[in-house]
Amino acid sequence: MNHKAGSKGTAVVTGASSGIGMVYAQRLAKQGYDLLLVARRLGRLAERARQLSSRYRISANYLSADLTRTSDLERVMKVLAEDSTITALINNAGVATLSGFNDAELSKHQTMNALNVEALVRLSYAILPVFKRKNHGTLVNISSVLSLHAYPISSVYSGTKAYVSNFTRGLQEEVAGTNVRVQLVLPGATDTEIWDIAGVPASHLPVGTVMTAEDVVDAALSGLEQGETITMPSVEDVGLLQAYEAAREKLFRASQSARPASRYRIS
Ligand SMILES: NC(=O)c1ccc[n+]([C@@H]2O[C@H](COP(=O)([O-])OP(=O)(O)OC[C@H]3O[C@@H](n4cnc5c(N)ncnc54)[C@H](OP(=O)(O)O)[C@@H]3O)[C@@H](O)[C@H]2O)c1
Repeated sequence: MNHKAGSKGTAVVTGASSGIGMVYAQRLAKQGYDLLLVARRLGRLAERARQLSSRYRISANYLSADLTRTSDLERVMKVLAEDSTITALINNAGVATLSGFNDAELSKHQTMNALNVEALVRLSYAILPVFKRKNHGTLVNISSVLSLHAYPISSVYSGTKAYVSNFTRGLQEEVAGTNVRVQLVLPGATDTEIWDIAGVPASHLPVGTVMTAEDVVDAALSGLEQGETITMPSVEDVGLLQAYEAAREKLFRASQSARPASRYRIS
């Protein structure tokens, strides 16, 4: 992009045409970031960019891309690698198909893998060297509480989000001790279009379990500000998350043995 970035630089938001991504774009514009909005629906992106740039006096550009298509993905990767104004990437674009594993077309599962996993990995691959070189930058990967759990109708979606969570944990280990921030966000059920697309309207979910996209993003940005590496906007007791992470690490450490566990030894 040929613009002079504001002091915060440019935030790239994928999936900025609706839901959580659209709120990220607005909140980051309010914070003074210039924007590059990415999604497929060009009309929505153009309108959003126009509104945000005039309201917040920032520069807002947009790029229509289907991130499940290699050529489009490579176009976005090239921008990430070459636009030196970029200081933040919100890897948010995602899709869900909620149904029994064999009840959905295989192509639906492939699309989830392509967007939720492959695109997120490739965009991270493009931006991290830039952030590392500058020792500055923020990568936010949007996972889900379903990375911790799987329902009979969410095996592939939960699988993609478990990938995002573990992938992001690894990146966090890699940049530890630098000024590059990598935040993992695990929203719970959020009132966005994803539910209609998934085949389960959000209005069918239990009352009191669905958060607004505004609350999710505000909590995630607050978590980022507080230096959190993992943010779960809907979990009141942060001790539960800490205990979960501690148990996960303890179990992993306990697995580092050459000897089969005694219950498997033939006496
Ligand atoms: N809503 C929830 O309950 C919930 C809970 C946990 C995590 N999340 C995660 O939050 C993220 C945002 O979801 P949301 O709830 O805000 O859903 P959403 O309103 O449906 O937004 C999804 C965004 O992704 C974009 N997108 C979809 N397919 C794309 C493709 N092939 N290429 C490029 N962009 C594409 C959509 O734009 P276009 O259609 O214009 O391309 C849209 O902007 C996702 O990663 C989702 O898994 C959501």
